[in-house]
Amino acid sequence: MASGQLSRVEALACAGCRHACHVMLYCDTTTQLFGRIPIRHVVLMQMRFDGLLGFPGGLVNPSEETLEAGLSRELLEELGVALPISVEDHVDSCYAPSSSSSSRQLITHFYVKKMAEEQIREVEKAAASTATDHGQEVLGMVRVPLYAMQGGGGLASFLSHSFIGNARSQLIDSLLRLNLVSPAELQKALANSLKIHA
Ligand code: GTP
Ligand code: MN
Ligand code: MN
Ligand code: MN
Ligand code: MN
Ligand code: MN
Repeated sequence: MASGQLSRVEALACAGCRHACHVMLYCDTTTQLFGRIPIRHVVLMQMRFDGLLGFPGGLVNPSEETLEAGLSRELLEELGVALPISVEDHVDSCYAPSSSSSSRQLITHFYVKKMAEEQIREVEKAAASTATDHGQEVLGMVRVPLYAMQGGGGLASFLSHSFIGNARSQLIDSLLRLNLVSPAELQKALANSLKIHA
């Protein structure tokens, strides 16, 4: 495991820790942008109340609910859909860099769930209509552009925005691990994203 990472079991053994669970929902798609640029996959993130991009999910209290049930509860609040999340969807857990505002260490648990394209559309619809957090904690769901356009548009521009916690790394690691973007394309997008605000 990489530094800062711990197993799900080790994480739950930390008595004084706070826990947050977030999930990357995604699907395959044959849709083409402008009828010529393959979109390939729909990856969902959200614009948070604080103006930062992140994944849907939130704080979970393991003494009251399992990590996965807590994540499902957060998804109901933020997306308007009670998506079932299982232990098999868990990717990793790690210590969040400690902030001065709280003395209790935060552990962030990350999950990935592949869905059907129609299910993703239903999540987007519910998130913009029936979700109780819509317009409050969550300003809107966004799809991540995975393609590269001339001038750095697409994934590079998306990565140049500001993200909460290590959500940017969670996105990049997932794109690589699930082979949603090739290593070469990703490397190029990362390099271009650094040039954008330079
Ligand atoms: P409240 O209902 O207001 O408590 O918010 P919440 O339960 O939805 O919590 P939130 O989603 O803001 O997550 C809690 C904490 O986890 C945040 O303060 C961040 O430090 C961190 N966090 C939020 N989103 C992400 C994410 O996508 N990835 C990672 N790694 N951390 C995140
Ligand atoms: Mn148009
Ligand atoms: Mn929430
Ligand atoms: Mn949240
Ligand atoms: Mn919450
Ligand atoms: Mn809340």
